[in-house]
Amino acid sequence: MVGTNTNKDLNGQLRIVIVGHVDHGKSTLIGRLLNDTGSLPDGKVEQVHEMSRKRGMPFEWAFVMDALQAERDQGITIDTTQIHFKTAQRPYVIIDAPGHTEFLKNMVTGASQADAALLVIDAAEGALEQSRRHAFLLHLLGVRQVAVAVNKMDRVEYGEARFKAVSAEIRDYLASLGVGVDTIIPIAARHGDNIVGRSPNMSWYKGPTVVQALDAFRPQAPLTEQPLRFPVQDVYKPNDSRILAGRIESGRLRVGDTLRFAPTDATAKVVSIEAWNHPGPVLSAAAGQSIGITLDKRIFAERGHIAHLEESPPHVTSRLSVRLFWLVSEPLVVGKSYTLKIATAEHRVTVEAITNVLNIDDLSTGEAPSVRRNEIAEVVLRARAPIAIDLVGDLPRTGRGVLIDGHDVVGGCVAIDVEAADANKPVANLHAVSHAVTAEERADANGHGGGILWLTGLSGAGKSTLAMALERVLFDRGWQVFVLDGDGVRQGLNAGLGFSAEDRSENIRRVAEASKLFADAGMVVIASLISPLKADRERARAIGGDRFHEVFVSADLATCESRDPKGLYKRARAGEIAEFTGVSAPYEAPESAELTLDTGKLGQTEALGQLVDYVDRAFGQAGRKRNRL
Ligand code: ADX
Repeated sequence: MVGTNTNKDLNGQLRIVIVGHVDHGKSTLIGRLLNDTGSLPDGKVEQVHEMSRKRGMPFEWAFVMDALQAERDQGITIDTTQIHFKTAQRPYVIIDAPGHTEFLKNMVTGASQADAALLVIDAAEGALEQSRRHAFLLHLLGVRQVAVAVNKMDRVEYGEARFKAVSAEIRDYLASLGVGVDTIIPIAARHGDNIVGRSPNMSWYKGPTVVQALDAFRPQAPLTEQPLRFPVQDVYKPNDSRILAGRIESGRLRVGDTLRFAPTDATAKVVSIEAWNHPGPVLSAAAGQSIGITLDKRIFAERGHIAHLEESPPHVTSRLSVRLFWLVSEPLVVGKSYTLKIATAEHRVTVEAITNVLNIDDLSTGEAPSVRRNEIAEVVLRARAPIAIDLVGDLPRTGRGVLIDGHDVVGGCVAIDVEAADANKPVANLHAVSHAVTAEERADANGHGGGILWLTGLSGAGKSTLAMALERVLFDRGWQVFVLDGDGVRQGLNAGLGFSAEDRSENIRRVAEASKLFADAGMVVIASLISPLKADRERARAIGGDRFHEVFVSADLATCESRDPKGLYKRARAGEIAEFTGVSAPYEAPESAELTLDTGKLGQTEALGQLVDYVDRAFGQAGRKRNRL
C-alpha cells in the first residue's frame, strides 16, 4: 500500500456524471468548466460569440456545448458522449448521452461506471420535485461520491441564508436515499463564480470550488489492484492434466497462491499458469488476461465457479437485490423465472419482489406490479442454488449481470444487496450430528463400503434395467444395496415435481441428498435418473463427495428412440409430452464420468459385467483397503 495516497499520485482519468434539470444550468456549468479550465480548443469561444451575434442572441455558455455537439454529430454516432477536460490535478471525462435511455441503460447495467457525480440545483427553485428525481437517479446509478452545485446564486443576491436552506433540503433528501454528499457549493455558472476561481460575491463561503471538489474525488482503484476474481470459463483435460481456463476479471493470481472457489468452497494451490502465446513459464497474471491454470488437487470446479483468494471472498447467497434496466416489451413480473448470467455463471432465479420502479421519462418513482421496457427497478431475486456474486459498489466486474428469458437478453442488472445464505455454512441453530457407529464399523459389518452409483443417460438407454440387474447381483452376494429410480421417486418423495429445468434440478438435488443418507447408512445406492444437465449432476457430486461415482449409460438418441420401451418418444414426437429429454429438452453428456457403458454397442451381460467390476473396485474389500492406505 502506498502510504500517502494523494490524488496527484493517482493521475488517472476520473469519470464524472453531471445530473440536473437543463433549466437549472447543467450545460452552462459544463461550458464554463471547459472554458475556465482552459480545456476548449483555441477560438471556440470567439466562434460561439460570433454565432450568437449573427443570430441576434445574447451569448450563452450553454452554446459552447451545442457547438461541440454539432461537431461531433458530423462524425460517427456514438451512444455515449464523452466530454473531456483537464484540471491542474488530472484529466476528466464527463459521461453524458444524447439519448437519455441509452445513457441510463449503460449506467444502470454498469457498462459505463462513473467515479463521481455532480448534481446541479437551481438556488431559486431549491430541491423541488425535479431535483429530487435527479437525486434519486444518482441513488439508482449507485454513484458513491457526490457533490452538489447550487447554481444561479446571482438570482438570489448571493445570499447565504438561501444557500443554507437549499443545502439542508437536498442533503436531507439524499441522506434519506443513502447517498452521502461530500460537498455543496454555491455557484453562478454563468459568471464563473466558484467554478475554478473563488467568487468575490460570496466571501461567506469557505468551502471548495467546483474544480477543487472534483479534484478531491477518488478514482476507483485499477482492476489489477482489486481482489482476485477468476471466473472459470472452461475446464480442459489434455492428456492427464486438468486446466481451468478463463479471464481474470480483477486482481492478480500467482503460482503458489491458494485459491478458494465460490460457491463450493473447494480450495487448491496454483501449480502453473498457462498463458496463450507466451513462451516460457508464467508466474503471475492480472486482470484482463485470459489464462489457464493447473491445480495441485483434483477439486470439483466447473464453468461459473469463481476463484478468489481466501481473505477476500465474494458473497455467496441465494437471495439478492438487484437494480435492473428492463429492455423488452414483455414486462418483468413477480413470480416469473429467468436466467441470471454473471461472468461465466448462469443461475435460475425467480423474481420475488419489485421494491421500486423508476419511470425514466419523467423520473417519477413508485411501487408497481411489473417493470416495463426502459424502466429502472429494484428487484429481489431468489435462486434455488447459491450464487457467487459481488456488490457492484465493491467490485463492478463480478457485481453485474444480465437476465435472460429463453435466448433473449431481457434486462441488465447490478447487485446492490445480498442476504447471506451461504449453502456451505451451517444453518443457524442446527448442529452436526455425530453417530455412535462409524462408517468404518458399518463397512466392516457389511463387508463393503457405502456409496453412490449415479446412472445418467437418456430415457431408454437402459439405466433402470442395469440398475435392477446390479441390485440383484449385489443383493445375492449379501450386500446392502438399493435402487432409487427416477420413475419411482417421482411418485413419492418427489411427487409434484415436473420436467422443467428447475423441477429436474430439484428432483436431482433431493435424490442426491437421499442417496447420501443411504450411503451414510453404509449402503450402496444405485441412483438411476436421466439427470440431463451437467450442473445438476455436479451438484449431486458435491453433495455425495468422494463416494459419488458417475456412470454414463450412453446409448445414442437413435438407439433409445428405436427401443422406446415406454412409448414415450413416439408421444413426445407427436407433441404430447413437453420438454422430453432428447426431443425437446437437452441432454448434456458427461465428460468425466468414472465409467461409461455404451449399451448401444455392449450386450446386457457385458455392460453388467463391467459395472460389477467397477463396483468391486470402488466399494469392495480390496477397494476399501486401498482407500484406507
Ligand atoms: S430427470 O430429468 O429429472 O432426471 P427422471 O429420471 O427423474 O428425470 O425421470 C425420467 C422419467 O420420467 C422417464 O424415464 C420417463 O419415464 C418419465 N418422463 C415423463 N415426462 C418426461 C419428460 N418430459 N422428459 C423425460 N422423461 C420424462
